[in-house]
Amino acid sequence: MKSAQYLLIPGPTPIPLRVARAMDRPMINHRGPEFRAIVEEVLGGVKRICRTQENLLIYPASGTGGLEAAVANFIAPGEKVLAVSIGVFGDRFAEIASRFGARTEKMDFPWGSGADPDQIRDRINKDKKGEIKAILITHNETSTGACNDIKAIRAAVGHHPALFMVDSVSGLAAHELRMDEWGLDVVVSGSQKAFMIPPGLSFMAFSHRALTKQHNTQNSRYYWDVNIGLEYQQSGQTPFTPPISLYYGLQEALKMLEEEGLEHVLKRHRNYREMVRSSINAMGLELFTEERFASNAVTSICAPASIGANAIRKYMLDEFNIILAGGQQELDNKIFRLGHLGYVRELDIISVLAALELTLVKFHYDLHMGSGLNQAQQILFKYHISKKE
Ligand SMILES: Cc1ncc(COP(=O)(O)O)c(C=O)c1O
Repeated sequence: MKSAQYLLIPGPTPIPLRVARAMDRPMINHRGPEFRAIVEEVLGGVKRICRTQENLLIYPASGTGGLEAAVANFIAPGEKVLAVSIGVFGDRFAEIASRFGARTEKMDFPWGSGADPDQIRDRINKDKKGEIKAILITHNETSTGACNDIKAIRAAVGHHPALFMVDSVSGLAAHELRMDEWGLDVVVSGSQKAFMIPPGLSFMAFSHRALTKQHNTQNSRYYWDVNIGLEYQQSGQTPFTPPISLYYGLQEALKMLEEEGLEHVLKRHRNYREMVRSSINAMGLELFTEERFASNAVTSICAPASIGANAIRKYMLDEFNIILAGGQQELDNKIFRLGHLGYVRELDIISVLAALELTLVKFHYDLHMGSGLNQAQQILFKYHISKKE
C-alpha cells in the first residue's frame, strides 16, 4: 500500500480540507455585492497579517508577479537601487529591477547567512547625494533557509529616503513582520506559502510614500498598475477578472489563521524549526544555515557527501511518499530542504524525521536510530506543556 503523500517543500504547501471545501463553490459575478464583501474581508485579513493600515493589492500571479509589480510601479528606469541578496530569490529581485532598467548595485552576503545591518548602514551612509532610490531585500530566503532581520536592517537604513522593499513571499505569517511599525514601504507575499492556499495570488502592500513616489515616475505598466488597482478597489472590485476560487480559499484560510491567532501561528512555525534543527543536530548531520539566521519556514540540511542529497530525496519519495526540496543552483545534491510552513502538522514532521533516520541507516550512515526523533519529541513535549501554562 502506498501511503498518503507528505508534501514538505517550501511551497506550494498542503492545504487544509476547510480551504479545499471553501474553494469548491460556484462562480459568482466578480462585479457584484457578494464578491465585494469577499474583497473587503480578505483585504482586511491580509493587512492584519502584514501589520499595516496602508494600501494592499492582490494580484492573480505567483510571488514573482508581485515582485515585478513592485518594481514596475515603484522604480523608474535609470534609478539606482541597492539589492541585498542572500540567495536565489535575492538575486531574482535584483534581476527584475535590472530588466526594468534600474541601475542595480548588488550587495551579496554568503549563502546560509543573513545580511549584516552594519554593512548596509555603512553603504547607505556613503550615499550622501541620496542617489539610491530603493533598497530591495528578501525576508525569508527560501533557497538557503536563512531569514534576514528586517527590523534591524530597516533601522540601520535610518532616515535615508530610499524606498524599503521586502520580498516576504515565504516569510509572511511564518516570521514576524510589522510593516508600519518597522517603516517598510513595500511588502510582497504569495498565497502558496504560510497562507495555506494554492499558488496563484500575490499580495503587495505599499506605503503612502511609495504611492506618492510612483505618481512621479514614468514607467510602462498596465496589468500591474497600482492606480488602476486602487481605483477599482474603491468599489470592491479588481480591474481584471479575479481567480474567484482562490479568493474563496483565501477567505477561509484567513479565518483559520485568525482563529489560531497570529502570535500562535508564528510560535507554531518557530517550534517546527526547533523540532527539525535539534533533531538534525542529534542525527549528526550538518545544518546549512547558522542558528541565528535559521528560518521558521524551511530548513536546509547538508547531506553526507558519501550519499548525496538527491539519493536521500529519491529514497524518501520512493519508499515513504515524502517530498522534500532539493538544493538550487550550486547547492544541487549538496543540501535538501525540509519545508515546514503553512498547513504542516507537527506529527508530519515527526514522521518525516523518522523516515529520514530510516533512510540514513539504509545508506549505512552511522546513526543510532531514534536519536534525532527523540530530540524532536522532547521539543514537542515542552511546546505542549508550555501551551497549557
Ligand atoms: C522568497 C521567495 N521569493 C520569491 C519567490 C517566487 O515565488 P513564485 O515561485 O510564487 O513566483 C519564492 C518562491 O519560492 C520565494 O520563496
